[in-house]
Amino acid sequence: MTTIGLIGAGNIGSTVARLAVAAGHDVVLSNSRGPETLDDLVAELGDHARAATAQEAAEAGDIVVVTVPLKAYREVPEEPLRGKVVIDTNNYYPERDGHIAELDDESTTTSELLQAHLPESSVVKGFNNIYFEHLLSLARPSGAEDRSVLAIAGDDMAAKAEVAELLDSLGYDAYDVGPLAEGWRYQRDTTAYAGVYVDGDDWEHPRPATPELLAEKLAAAQRYRDMA
Ligand SMILES: NC(=O)c1ccc[n+]([C@@H]2O[C@H](COP(=O)([O-])OP(=O)(O)OC[C@H]3O[C@@H](n4cnc5c(N)ncnc54)[C@H](OP(=O)(O)O)[C@@H]3O)[C@@H](O)[C@H]2O)c1
Repeated sequence: MTTIGLIGAGNIGSTVARLAVAAGHDVVLSNSRGPETLDDLVAELGDHARAATAQEAAEAGDIVVVTVPLKAYREVPEEPLRGKVVIDTNNYYPERDGHIAELDDESTTTSELLQAHLPESSVVKGFNNIYFEHLLSLARPSGAEDRSVLAIAGDDMAAKAEVAELLDSLGYDAYDVGPLAEGWRYQRDTTAYAGVYVDGDDWEHPRPATPELLAEKLAAAQRYRDMA
């Protein structure tokens, strides 16, 4: 059993928390407005969940998931995350986050920005390219024929192994895309973004993603970049 700290408890944060509690983990949830605003979610999740400040969630987590609007990434507390594995779900939406020059000129990626903000943590990009409702509904036990893969990227192999183990417990196989700088391959507006789990326009009935399907989408992302 692992304690998962969540910085952000919205669509993705609450979904990861649901999967984690179902898998027998403990979760410590936080948001920007304060723990008391998470009473309903904590009550729904039960005894394995509690709410705290972001600082406390970061301190409590064996693994911490940062799942806030990207514009808030600099507010993620650095000190309590030292030496920890941090999963970064964030995507760049300039209309929500404002323009970030290093992302606009593609000199870095969203998860590298978080890694630069948390230099003593091991950031792993994950959960960013799946719609939160699909993340909940596509989870399957280990060995199930229709189990999906989830993409991860990071510079620390041991951290990726820890995240893969966590994903396995939550209902997914991990697909290692490579170092953090390769995270662009499944960022927003690539072929390997959330549509991997969608057949055509049918968002109501997500499809499981095999490693082959994700690999095909990642390769297409590369081809589009080469053509640009
Ligand atoms: N929605 C999806 O399906 C999806 C899928 C993959 C990845 N993502 C990405 O994952 C991130 C989270 O998405 P979401 O849809 O879950 O967003 P969301 O529903 O808007 O939730 C964001 C959460 O972050 C919290 N927050 C904001 N600023 C914070 C701060 N400074 N400290 C602590 N918590 C803070 C918010 O708290 P308050 O409500 O109290 O402000 C809220 O709980 C985004 O970058 C998004 O692009 C989303």
